[in-house]
Amino acid sequence: MLRRFSISLEENLLETFDGYIKSHKYNNRSEAIRDLIRKSFVKKEWEADNMVMGVITLVYDHHQHQLQEKVTEVQHDYHHHIVSTTHVHMDHHNCLEVIIVRGNAVEVQDLADRLISLRGVRDGNLAMSSTGKSLH
Ligand code: NI
Repeated sequence: MLRRFSISLEENLLETFDGYIKSHKYNNRSEAIRDLIRKSFVKKEWEADNMVMGVITLVYDHHQHQLQEKVTEVQHDYHHHIVSTTHVHMDHHNCLEVIIVRGNAVEVQDLADRLISLRGVRDGNLAMSSTGKSLH
């Protein structure tokens, strides 16, 4: 059930917010505010080391010596945290690996750090999400 409440904002802040709504393609202020609130709760869950979900994205050159083996080895060390892995051969050199993870926030962050810091990983990112308990 949706409930209404009103918000007071300084004019400047509201103008900035309306710009944000436009650039992020929201239909209205309510949906944008709902997303911002949820996002802040997701961040809190990560900070509190709760059960979280996330997506690790890696781009690397598979010609880099032993990198492919190391990426696989680290994932086996954390196999309880990995839901699925998708590997895409982007071009002759580059691979894209997308890893869906779940578990304690600190451990998931450790896994992401270990993968992203491997020599030869050109781009790495951890998108933090949540199991959703606090988002309903
Ligand atoms: Ni590949």
